[in-house]
Order: sequence, then C-alpha cells, then structure tokens
Amino acid sequence: MLIYRKPDIVRFSFMLASLMLTGLLFSCTGLRKEKDKIKIGFSQGMTTDDWRKQMNKSMRLEASLHDDVDLAILDADDDVEKQLTDIETLIRNRSDIIIVSPIQSRPLTAVVEKSVKAGIPVIVIDRKIENERYTAYIGADNIEVGRNAGRYIASVIPHHEGGIRIVEIKGLKGSSPAYERSLGFRQIVNRFEKLKVVASIDGNWESESVKAPLRNILKQDKDIDYVFCHNDRMALSAWEVAREKGVENKIKFIGVDGLNTRNGGIQLVQDKVLQATIFYPTGGNEAIKLALKILNKDPVSKNNILGTTVIDSVNADIMKNQLDKIDLQQASIENQLHKLSEQEKKYATQTNLIKILTFSLVLILSLALYSIYSTYVISKKKKLLELQSEKITLQQNEIEKITGQEFRTRLDTIIEQHLDNPQFTVEELAQRLNLSRVQLYRKIKGMFGISVNEYISGIRLEKSREMLRKTSLNIAEVAYACGFSSPNYFSTSFKNKYGITPKEYKNNP
Ligand code: FRU
Repeated sequence: MLIYRKPDIVRFSFMLASLMLTGLLFSCTGLRKEKDKIKIGFSQGMTTDDWRKQMNKSMRLEASLHDDVDLAILDADDDVEKQLTDIETLIRNRSDIIIVSPIQSRPLTAVVEKSVKAGIPVIVIDRKIENERYTAYIGADNIEVGRNAGRYIASVIPHHEGGIRIVEIKGLKGSSPAYERSLGFRQIVNRFEKLKVVASIDGNWESESVKAPLRNILKQDKDIDYVFCHNDRMALSAWEVAREKGVENKIKFIGVDGLNTRNGGIQLVQDKVLQATIFYPTGGNEAIKLALKILNKDPVSKNNILGTTVIDSVNADIMKNQLDKIDLQQASIENQLHKLSEQEKKYATQTNLIKILTFSLVLILSLALYSIYSTYVISKKKKLLELQSEKITLQQNEIEKITGQEFRTRLDTIIEQHLDNPQFTVEELAQRLNLSRVQLYRKIKGMFGISVNEYISGIRLEKSREMLRKTSLNIAEVAYACGFSSPNYFSTSFKNKYGITPKEYKNNP
C-alpha cells in the first residue's frame, strides 16, 4: 500500500491561507485601532442638571468629530470621594489627558497635581482647584459673571427711589464659581451706596437648598428688591418661594447660566420669571479642542476664558434665535455622525465578507494546488509500479521457461525409459511425475496444445525415426522397440505423421 506524506507545498499553502485569514480578520482596514486612539478622560462632578448634560453632550459631539479620539466620561455623582477615585482611575488607565470639573476646589487639588506630575496633563473646567498647578483652565470668568450681575442691578439705581435691597443666594461653599461670583458681585455692589446686600444664603447649586432659608428671610423682611442667584435653577426656586408669599412681581430675580432649554435661563427671562441671567457657557467642545491642542504640543494659554454676557428681555429672543441655530447645526452634525457610523458598520460587514471570500479563495487555490500535486505524484508512482510489474513478468517468464524445460526433460526421460512398453499408461506417467491425471493432462495441453497420449506417441514416433536413421534395426524391431503393439500400427501412425512409410524413410531418410 502506498502512503503519501502530505506534501510540504500543501502544508505551506494551508499555512499561508491561515496566516492570510488571521491577518485579514484582525487588520482594521480604514478603521483606527483602539491602541492608536487618543484617550481623553473626563471627570465630571455630577450630571444632575441640564447645564452639566449640555457640557457632556458638547464634549461628546466634539470628540466624535475626531475619529482618533476616545472620550471616557466618569460621573462623580456630586461625591468628592468618588471624584478622587475617578481621577485615580483615569491616571491608572494612562489617559493621554484628563479634564476635570471639580465639585470642590480644595479636596481635588492634590490629585490634579499628582496627574500632572505623572506626565498626564490636566485641564480644569468650570470650577477651579486651589492652586494653579494644572495644565490649563477653561471656563468663563466667574468674577466677571458676578460683576455683570452687580452692574445690571446698579444700572437701575437712577430709576429707583431709595436704596436697593438685595439677597444673594450663593453656590456651594468651597466651589470656585460660588466664591468668585460672589467676589465680583460684591466688588460692584460695594461701589454703590444705594446697593445693599441685606441677606445671603449658602446654597449648594440645587433648588432645594434655597427654599427654607429664603422663606425665613421673606418672613422677616418683605422689602427685598433683588435676588441674585448664582444659577438659574436656584433663581427659579427663589421665585417659587416669592410666589408663595405673593411677592414674585415685586422682587426681581437674576440668575446665571442662560441655558436655551425648557425652564432654562432664556425661557425664564422670556417668561418674565427672571429679569436677567448671566450667560455662562459650559465650554464642553472648547475643552476637547484645547485637549487636542495640548497633546499636539501647540502653544496654548494657561487660562482660557470664555465670553459671558447679560441676557434680559432686550436680547433674550436674539440669543434664543442664535442658540436655536447652533442647536440645529449640532443636531444635523449628530444626525450625520449617526449616518456615518451606520455606514461604517455596513462597510465593516462588507469588509468582513470580502475577507471571508478571500480566505475561501485562498483555500480553494491551495486545494487545487494540492490536487494537482497529488495527481502528479500518483501518476509518477503508477509508472514506477508498471515498470516494476513488467520486470516481474519478465522474471516470471524466465522462471517458467526454466521450469518448463525441466519438466519436459523429466517427461521425455520417463517416456523414453518406457519406450518399448506399449502398456505404459498415462496414469503411470502422471504418478512418476507426482501429478494427477488431470493435472498432467492440463499441463501438457497448456504447454504443447495436445493430449498426453498424443504427446507420448509423438515421442515414440520421433524415437522410431531416429532409430530408422541411425540403426540397422528393421521396421518390426523399431516398432517394438518404440512400444508400438504391431508393425502395421507403427507404419500407419508413422505415415500419418510424416507422410511417408517407415520403409520409405529408412531407404531414404
Ligand atoms: C451646574 C452648575 C451651574 C453652575 C455651575 C457652577 O452643575 O451648578 O448651574 O453655573 O455648575 O460650577
């Protein structure tokens, strides 16, 4: 049996095919590999309100415009401890840059420093830390925000009889906007004798923190002219408390943020809930742009101050219009990005299909190659076998020739030994040759094409002819010596075979 070893060429083809498949399946044609991406980590203080949601959204939108940017947003849920852990995680994960909007300044200072020291730049956004050991800051100038509010109230002094009594509702103590907004506000207020901050509340940026303290103040002092709140959420809450007391139209409310959302600052101005709001941009998309510049080693300012402005009944509609247009553009960008990602998915499916087809093709080619090779090997082996079998046949013939001759000599010798015995039978002959009658018959038929008797009488006649030629024995003597039962039978058999009588032959051999 022939056992074929799998030819090397086939093994090579399979290897090539597997390699190609692996290569193809894992190569990312056109799509960027995860490890090549720029990792931006954002530690968001909380995402409980619309302003923060808008900040995250604009960051995501900007990041998705750069297909090499991988933005991870970790939300601290207004929990300082969690924010510390989040930033540690971003450092450990080797973010390329970290953006932080600290819940409070002091507790976050050290971890920001740690990141910068570890070689990961940090952008502080909106709220600050205690020192300037960050890479860059981005946000509006909160002192200016406070000043804007102060100037706005101061602008009504000429039209206001007597002093203007103000309540200031601050943001969370320990967070820089609360401190700076108050600082700027007081800088202006203190310049005018007629402006008086009669009470102040330490809020925590959220609506509920306003209610009880303001109720208390309004219980004792109904003569409040202005409430300056450090954001619009708290301003709306203050207005609701004033409404409870029926003084919502007497008191004027000023907030900060100026969001263009439902119940956002702009709508509150349009609805005459707020007299004004100080626009405070989130800076989300600008922060991503700044991060990319820093990573690109472009020169950037340490403090990147975003513009702020007062929104009141004079410009609320224009502002809303402008912001609506921006929102529409953003929505269209989002829509296109969505379509793009759908197309990318389709493209990926098609690419995978092409990879599978290519692999199948390589496999088929390898198999075809294998079968061509096998056919070649088999035909070569066949030829070799044919040659071998031809050789064997030749040898067998040779052997048969030799054994045939041997047999014939034995056969002839035995017959000659019994030449003068007309009773010498086929059985006897077979016995002497160690064969059965049938075997002897078949062998002689096979070798000479005649029966055993015909062969024996052939020998007898040949011998008789020899004797006639070589000896002086007469016809009858020859006949008996060659085992013919009578001279007559001998003569007839002789004539049958040689065409002449023994006598004629003797006379003329
Ligand atoms: C949102 C917010 C804004 C405010 C800012 C100050 O969480 O409270 O309303 O302007 O944070 O950091």
